[in-house]
Amino acid sequence: MSLIQLPAREASSPAPKVTAQTLLDRKQAHQPITALTAYDYPTARIVDQAGVDVILVGDSLGMAVLGYDSTLPVTMEEMLHHTRAVRRGVRRALLVADMPFGSYHASNEQAIGNATRFIKEAGAEAVKIEGGRNRAALVAAITQAEIAVVGHIGLTPQSVHRLGYRVQGKTADAIDGLIADAQALEAAGAIAIVLECIPREVGGQITSALAIPTIGIGAGPECDGQILVFHDLVNLTGAQPAKFVRRYADASALFAEAVQHYASDVRGGAFPADAESYHLPGEASAELLQSEPIKRSQR
Ligand code: KIV
Repeated sequence: MSLIQLPAREASSPAPKVTAQTLLDRKQAHQPITALTAYDYPTARIVDQAGVDVILVGDSLGMAVLGYDSTLPVTMEEMLHHTRAVRRGVRRALLVADMPFGSYHASNEQAIGNATRFIKEAGAEAVKIEGGRNRAALVAAITQAEIAVVGHIGLTPQSVHRLGYRVQGKTADAIDGLIADAQALEAAGAIAIVLECIPREVGGQITSALAIPTIGIGAGPECDGQILVFHDLVNLTGAQPAKFVRRYADASALFAEAVQHYASDVRGGAFPADAESYHLPGEASAELLQSEPIKRSQR
């Protein structure tokens, strides 16, 4: 770790805190909601200071930063660890934590216990749960426990072995099912619903059928808001992006160039320069020059 100064914390946040009510107001005013994932402190600061409304500590961190093949192995402890780091970087955005696979599937008690940990131990302001009608009673129970819940339907990565990573909602039955899912989550008290990988037309239909906001990822521009995975946005994944991803920067190329430049400077003696070195005060330096050279130890 270098001895760099940590940036001073802002005395007060200039923009008002985003809450569940803010998201609802945005929907009613037809002002798009912005959302991104973050998994650590520096990224959270960047995303929050850019004015993004919702920051999701997604279980996509399993792939994006932990190198797993899917979201399935991600544990509660990993999610809590990353949510705490993100919490320290967020002032304004609504902070949502993803409940990982297995953390809400056994019983309402298990789910409420784990959701409570996100709020109490990691400072999340809401939790996200995958599933529709099959999770509506659970969403109601968690909401009853005073914890705000964001739903997630369409392509739900925790169901990969049942559904695959495929666009959902392509038949009339599937569309009816998704609309029923969304309405059940709304009736259960969800504050917003993520719609992942569904046809644009279906995203639009669900959005107009609901009073609560929809946040789309591959669900078209009619959704009330959009979310992307930060690592997709800046190309830090090393994988072929999905159709719905737009890359706004190439951080992989930028970082690779910086690291190659550094290594070549070290090898060529160009780093560190004198200006990047500490120096003895004049007197001590003169004394050192006059003293006998220290003998190199023998190996
Ligand atoms: O885990 C995640 O990043 C997500 C988003 C894709 C919505 O669930």
